[in-house]
Amino acid sequence: EKVPLKLEVNGVKHKLSVEPRTTLLDLLREQLHLTGTKKGCDYGQCGACTVHVDGNRINSCLTLAVMQEGRKITTIEGLANGDNLHPMQEAFLKHDGFQCGYCTPGQIMSAVACIREGHANSEGEIREFMSGNICRCGAYSNIVAAIQEVKN
Ligand code: FES
Repeated sequence: EKVPLKLEVNGVKHKLSVEPRTTLLDLLREQLHLTGTKKGCDYGQCGACTVHVDGNRINSCLTLAVMQEGRKITTIEGLANGDNLHPMQEAFLKHDGFQCGYCTPGQIMSAVACIREGHANSEGEIREFMSGNICRCGAYSNIVAAIQEVKN
């Protein structure tokens, strides 16, 4: 049986009806058609599904949609300001912080959180904070460079 759910996604308020077992990831992708957030592993191991909830990063595959009542969600679609990319998106482009791009939305959402939460003070700190975001193409050093540029 579905239950009512109110939340805000990228500044848009939604009144939804969801199955209690639906994850936030599936809600975003399947009900709201925000497919920028990716499903890699669906069990908390890869970081492709990273979004922000009230400004804090989470793995949306590990979170039930019904737990988000009243919260503000930001996905990769909500990061740019109109036609202007977010500085972290610009930095990923400049430093080639991706190859295939599948992990990139999650990487960028974590990278923004890395700076906001104060974990970008050294390369080691950045690598530690970003360690939950797996990149099979191995773009890690370019990702670190992008974060360092935005931090400085
Ligand atoms: Fe959520 Fe992999 S899809 S961590």
